[in-house]
Amino acid sequence: MAKKLFIKTYGCQMNVYDSARMADVLAPLGYAPADSAREADMVILNTCHIREKAAEKVFSELGRLKPLKDAARRRGGRMILAVAGCVAQAEGAEILARAPHVDIVLGPQTYHRLPELVATATRRAGGVLDTDFPVESKFDHLPDASAPPGVASFLTIQEGCDKFCTFCVVPYTRGGEFSRPAAAVLAEARGQIAAGAREITLLGQNVNAYHGAAPGGGEWGLGRLIRALAAVPGIARIRYTTSHPRDVDDELVEAHRDVPALMPFLHLPVQSGSDRILAAMNRRHGAADYLRNLERLRRARPEIAFSSDFIVGYPGESERDFEATLALVREVGFAQSFSFKYSPRPGTPAAAETDQVADAVKSERLARLQALLEAQQQAFNRSQVGRSLEVLLERPGRHPGQLVGRSPYLQPVHMLAPAHLMGELVAARIVGAEPNSLAGERLEEAERIPA
Ligand code: 5AD
Ligand code: SF4
Repeated sequence: MAKKLFIKTYGCQMNVYDSARMADVLAPLGYAPADSAREADMVILNTCHIREKAAEKVFSELGRLKPLKDAARRRGGRMILAVAGCVAQAEGAEILARAPHVDIVLGPQTYHRLPELVATATRRAGGVLDTDFPVESKFDHLPDASAPPGVASFLTIQEGCDKFCTFCVVPYTRGGEFSRPAAAVLAEARGQIAAGAREITLLGQNVNAYHGAAPGGGEWGLGRLIRALAAVPGIARIRYTTSHPRDVDDELVEAHRDVPALMPFLHLPVQSGSDRILAAMNRRHGAADYLRNLERLRRARPEIAFSSDFIVGYPGESERDFEATLALVREVGFAQSFSFKYSPRPGTPAAAETDQVADAVKSERLARLQALLEAQQQAFNRSQVGRSLEVLLERPGRHPGQLVGRSPYLQPVHMLAPAHLMGELVAARIVGAEPNSLAGERLEEAERIPA
């Protein structure tokens, strides 16, 4: 009989990709997707450890799942409960101690061992833990994707990080930097396109540090890989995330200049505008280096827009440091951003600093920063009104006859369009701007306004 699998995904797009791969690994064991945990024979929480709140959410979700698991047992069945992802990697044994109803704890590098772990957990009473960094790569063991990837799909090309920013858990939970061979990436891309993808977002914790084995020997950087990907028939759009300012090399900048399919939108986290704080964070770049990178990219692709991540209240951050962040934001004008209060992560160097910033100060700074960033995002959205933009239609809208797609800048665009255009790139005149989306009208070829 078919078994049902429910995966709840937290955190970044890498986890979205990993969740899809876990579903692929379990499909041959007879697991089909379930709509909710209630009807599932196996529940996987694919977790994120980047900030404290993310980890705490996992423990409360585990609490909510316990009665479902108990109910399954009373019915004579069994619900297998697995915790995957970065909380699993960081707090493996702690999870089994705090939530003994968990059957499997597995880190991000061991998904290909899931079938074996499920078999072991089914035989045994206690939980099983697998948070190794195995020598064999999970990418060599994962089956080809079984579910269609959708019009806009993700493709992991790189994992892990060697940068060791002092606030960040990634180098500990995801391990050292690893790049997949270019041929494997291109083969997966061809598969995704054959299954209907038109846009591919290349994923990596430090994606522009990519240095995968080249098909003819040697290595390719991200710029070279993007050129090869752009040559794959059927691909309309390429994106990549997340990048580090240190790894913006000339080849990548030139790809932005030469490859039309590479979207003119880049998420490039700066974290802070204060050189003192950037140095304390071990970011290995200053504010001026960051601005220079944006300038290089703007020269290569004048219509490019940027988004960033920010942390406020890093240990020792003074009002002056914070004002340097505001000044940098004013200078750049971001199209979109993510900003967070600093959250001490156990085991990271910054967590051990003694000059932690009071939570009230963090909240107050975050509110000021977010007010500025939101105003910039709205200004950017409004600046699109009257323009003609290409929209990749991805899904039905809320209203009849409406489809929703994405602009080159990742803004959702709502427009009236016949359902058969789903998955197509269409030209739209932007007629309205909301804080988080745009309204468009479909343009015929003849009506297009030069962008
Ligand atoms: N506290 C707050 N924000 C953090 N980030 C990473 N670690 C922390 C932390 N300890 C943010 C950074 C990163 C984004 C993914 O999450 O801004 O770019
Ligand atoms: Fe974390 Fe990114 Fe710094 Fe790596 S580069 S340590 S992933 S913030």
